[in-house]
Amino acid sequence: MNILLTGGAGFIATHTCVELISAGHDVVIVDNYVNSQPEAVRRVEELTGRTIPHYEADVCDRAAMDRIFSEHAIDAVIHFAGLKAVGESVAQPLRYYRNNLDSALTLCETMAAHGVKRLVFSSSATVYGVPDEVPLREDMFCKGCTNPYGWTKYMIEKILMGVAQADPSWSVVLLRYFNPVGAHESGRIGENPNGLPNNLMPFITKVAAGQLPHLNVFGDDYNTHDGTGVRDYIHVVDLARGHVDACAYAAGHSGCEIINLGTGVGYSVLDMVQAFERVNGVKVPYVIGPRRPGDVDACFADPAKAKRLLGWEAKKTLEDMCRDAWRWQCMNPNGYTT
Ligand code: UD1
Repeated sequence: MNILLTGGAGFIATHTCVELISAGHDVVIVDNYVNSQPEAVRRVEELTGRTIPHYEADVCDRAAMDRIFSEHAIDAVIHFAGLKAVGESVAQPLRYYRNNLDSALTLCETMAAHGVKRLVFSSSATVYGVPDEVPLREDMFCKGCTNPYGWTKYMIEKILMGVAQADPSWSVVLLRYFNPVGAHESGRIGENPNGLPNNLMPFITKVAAGQLPHLNVFGDDYNTHDGTGVRDYIHVVDLARGHVDACAYAAGHSGCEIINLGTGVGYSVLDMVQAFERVNGVKVPYVIGPRRPGDVDACFADPAKAKRLLGWEAKKTLEDMCRDAWRWQCMNPNGYTT
């Protein structure tokens, strides 16, 4: 298949590009580089030995999107593009709603106009909100999100469910990611947050590298085995493989499916710190601080549906996640900026 990746220069998308190409697919990338760098695409080309058609454009720009669909026979789209910083979304709700909803709507309208009806969407476990119980199953009722970023994911899911319901020739897969970490084992592509990282693993790697003095552990009084928050960390290469399987599924089915991509295993913040220190032989100094607003005790997936529908399951270990995240950090101390 020829697959268009919106936001194709981002963390999960670049890893997905590599896996799609190694599974025999062709890819086209569109990215406005608002939170990513062209160098990431160049590295994917280097890893795959392929020239990848890529466009610097905003998915909200209908004329630019029409041009891409006219110049390439696209079979399916993976919609990664979107603003994704939780704290920023609380401070700038209108920007988040405008950008994330407009881009999803423009993409669907462009796809419909060009007769492309297979879509895989980057959703998030954030749509489960504050869960009543774990593990989280796709059929559980979502009681509401804790921030505008989460609501944009929730609303786009609803929009896409409506699109698939109205026209049964659409095939939509909503992938709810848990906590993607790690990097490609080559050390050439990885996560490249802008400024101070919000998420745990990139923060740990910057502390281990001495770029930040210590990790702030957000609360040690949660209802978990050691009091720190428990999450379902998944290696980004496993996650990327899930997209390859989701594209294959979308090609053979119609309708709309929600699918968790997680390991089903939860680790606490301190589990992650200890594993990182042990695997990489480095120190990660930390300070216990107050809870971060909006955080929940524990969040991990029931991954059974992904296994049943896609034949997919996570294969990489916590050691792989820690080792690959550290390799990426050591080989690229300033990310994609040389
Ligand atoms: C967050 C977002 C989620 C988003 C995901 C992307 C919220 C409520 N959720 O998930 O919507 O899809 O990122 O990966 O913000 N922690 C620390 N110190 C730090 C950073 C994190 O102790 O400096 C702890 C957190 O309290 C949490 C765990 O580490 O228990 C994971 O945090 P994080 O990596 O930010 O992910 P989530 O909050 O699960």
